[in-house]
Parts: sequence; structure tokens; C-alpha cells
Amino acid sequence: MDSKNKFSGMTVLLHWTVGLTILCLLGVGIYMAENEVDALYPIHKSFGVLIFPVILLRAIWRFKNGWPVAVTTYSKIEQIVAKVVHWLLLTLTILMPVTGMMFSGASGHGFGIFSWQIVPSNPSLTKPGEVDAFNPFAAHWGHELHEIFGYVLLAAICLHVVGVLKHKLIDKDASLARMLGKNVE
Ligand code: HEM
Ligand code: HEM
Repeated sequence: MDSKNKFSGMTVLLHWTVGLTILCLLGVGIYMAENEVDALYPIHKSFGVLIFPVILLRAIWRFKNGWPVAVTTYSKIEQIVAKVVHWLLLTLTILMPVTGMMFSGASGHGFGIFSWQIVPSNPSLTKPGEVDAFNPFAAHWGHELHEIFGYVLLAAICLHVVGVLKHKLIDKDASLARMLGKNVE
């Protein structure tokens, strides 16, 4: 379990595994959607599906463990901003794969983990080379929300990293060291 002086190996492992994978998925997602790089779609979807159980495990672990206690005392406003950003990060990391699967599944494009299909594609019988949506409503909202949540998550991560830099460079406290697994007694 986590203590004020030291985070458990599980907390550190889950933070960095999920954090770094999310950063890569955001980067690849925006790049492939902007430039229509078809070859990247199956890779993005596969890693997005693979990381989903790890994200759920992380959320369960966080609620069983409670939120981290700050290493020193901060102003009230700073504590509130940190709490809001941590909640946003945790919630949006769950909503991103959910909306991604909703969009890809309902739109008829399908998804899976590399060659293992979980929801198959639905090739159109009337328009060669295209797909027919299983559920146009779910496909539309899955797509919209995946994009909106993606940009809100990106903004939350930027705020998070600014906060970490403030702790490191201005407060010169041990927040980062603790998330790197060190005992900060
Ligand atoms: C934590 C997981 C994920 C993150 C952070 C993420 C992030 C993103 C981002 C930021 C975009 C660009 C949005 C845009 O500009 O339209 C994107 C696009 C996309 N994502 Fe994800 N994604 C994740 C998981 C998934 C999953 C699990 C699937 C499907 C199984 C998926 C399917 C797609 C598709 C099909 C697009 C392209 C949308 C388009 O062409 O407009 N994503 N993703
Ligand atoms: C370079 C990138 C990152 C750095 C340097 C970093 C660093 C940190 C640090 C030092 C803490 C501990 C804060 C405290 O003691 O109160 C923390 C907590 C947290 N980080 Fe990050 N982080 C990064 C990226 C991310 C990303 C991409 C996500 C999610 C998508 C994320 C999600 C969280 C969450 C939810 C917490 C709250 C504590 C927990 O649930 O484990 N971080 N981060």
C-alpha cells in the first residue's frame, strides 16, 4: 500500500505504464486522424484495447488505496486544482478506450488486437471498399466524444506536467521522486 513517504511498486508501475502508453496513443491518434494514415489505425486500436484492462486495474487500485497524500502543505487552490486534474486524468483514461471501441465497433470498421478480431468489420454490399455502420448513432457519438475527450485529456496532461515541474523547480519538493519509487522520508 502507499504511504506518505513511499509509493508501492504497483502504484509506480501502473502510473508510468498507463501514462506513457496514453501519451503515445494521443500522439499517434492525432497524427493518424489528421493525416489519414490508414496503416496506423490497427496499431492504435490494438494498443488502445490492450491497455484498457490495465487502466481499469489502475482505477481499482487507486480507489482501494485512496489518493496520494501531498508531500508537503500547499495552498487550498493548489490542492483543489491537483484533485480536479487527477480525477480528470483517471476518468478520461477510462473513457478514451470506451469511446474508441464504441466508434470503431458501431461504425462497421471493427477492431481487435492485431490479427485477433473482437468486433468484425461490416463491408458494404452496395459501396465496394467501404463499410456500413451497425449503429450510426453510436458511431457518431463514439467518434465525437473520442475526439473531444482526447483534447480535454491532452489539456489535463499539460496542466499535470506543469504542476509536476512547479513542484520540482519552484517548491523543490519530493513529489516526482516519490512517483519514481523513491523513499522520500
Ligand atoms: C487510451 C486509449 C486511447 C487514446 C488516448 C486515444 C486517443 C485518440 C486521439 C487523440 C485520436 C485523434 C482524434 C481526432 O482527432 O479525431 C484518436 C483517433 C482514433 N482512435 Fe483512439 N485512442 C485510444 C483508444 C482507442 C481505441 C481502443 C480505439 C478502437 C478500438 C480507438 C480508435 C480510434 C480511431 C478509429 C481514431 C480515428 C478517428 C478519425 O479518423 O477521425 N482509439 N484516438
Ligand atoms: C511526463 C509525464 C508525467 C509526469 C512527469 C508525471 C508525474 C506525476 C507525479 C510526480 C505524480 C504524483 C503527484 C503527487 O504526489 O500528488 C503523478 C500523479 C498522477 N499522475 Fe502523472 N505524470 C505524468 C504523466 C501522466 C499521464 C499521461 C497520466 C494519465 C493519463 C497521469 C496520471 C496521473 C494520476 C491520475 C496521478 C494521481 C496519482 C495516481 O493516481 O497514481 N500522469 N504524476
